[in-house]
Amino acid sequence: MSTQFFPVNMAVTPEVTAFFDPATNTISYVVKDPGSNACAVVDSVMDIDYAAGRITYDSADRIIAFIREQGLSLEWLIETHVHADHLSGAPYIQGKLGGRIGIGDRITVVQETFGKIFNEGTEFQRDGSQFDRLFADGDTYSIGGMSCFVLYTPGHTPACMTHVMGNAAFVGDTLFMPDGGSARADFPGGDAGTLYDSIQKVLSLPDDMRLFMCHDYGPNGRDIQWETTVGEEKAHNIHVGGGKTREEFIAFRTARDATLDMPKLIIPSLQVNMRAGQLPPKDESGRTFLKVPINGL
Ligand SMILES: [Fe+2]
Repeated sequence: MSTQFFPVNMAVTPEVTAFFDPATNTISYVVKDPGSNACAVVDSVMDIDYAAGRITYDSADRIIAFIREQGLSLEWLIETHVHADHLSGAPYIQGKLGGRIGIGDRITVVQETFGKIFNEGTEFQRDGSQFDRLFADGDTYSIGGMSCFVLYTPGHTPACMTHVMGNAAFVGDTLFMPDGGSARADFPGGDAGTLYDSIQKVLSLPDDMRLFMCHDYGPNGRDIQWETTVGEEKAHNIHVGGGKTREEFIAFRTARDATLDMPKLIIPSLQVNMRAGQLPPKDESGRTFLKVPINGL
């Protein structure tokens, strides 16, 4: 599809600072409006030692310290999707610095799916109300004076969104670096054909649009990288570049996904991230627990 109806503004260059979390290979970002001190955080991390059931906040604290040192004002905490491989640090950062937590409006579909899988009671709302803003396809918002817009890019999950801020786009798990290809499409609600269509939507942005990844695994022993461009992805992405067809992509993606293990942190991640990064409510003992659904995923 064409992006001619989207308010692309390549003349605006936000300052993007990346924070790499080696435990989960996640890249979080602070994105600063070039014309003011306003900023957004994209895809932050809350640390978990799952074996020990221990939550810590070193990753989020690094981001908080950076925002404070730079004297920035945090307006948005953006989640590109409900991550299945790390826990969101958004509520913790919001508690220290303010800002609004936003995610795609199809979060309700994800909440419905995983509300069932984790047998959540009626106290778990499936209406997205845990978030401050639910973005629909094409919605606009601003960070200071910089206007931003949202592209609905499902396939990896039903609620995935790409956020475009000036000449920078945050693609979540829609794409990986050119030599990393694409993310899996076999989680509940995922779909390889839908992912291909979403990737084409991202690749219809201008060739020099900067693309920022949510994950990188340093394929073939290279150093971790997180930034590329639409032009580079179109030419070189190993899963969709060089004119690969939808049928080729679906066949490859489906075969590959069948070989992948579940992400190590999928069980805690989903239970926390479908609640906008909040832990489940305390039980009658005053303590918090996560569930493990047996043969449920
Ligand atoms: Fe993901």
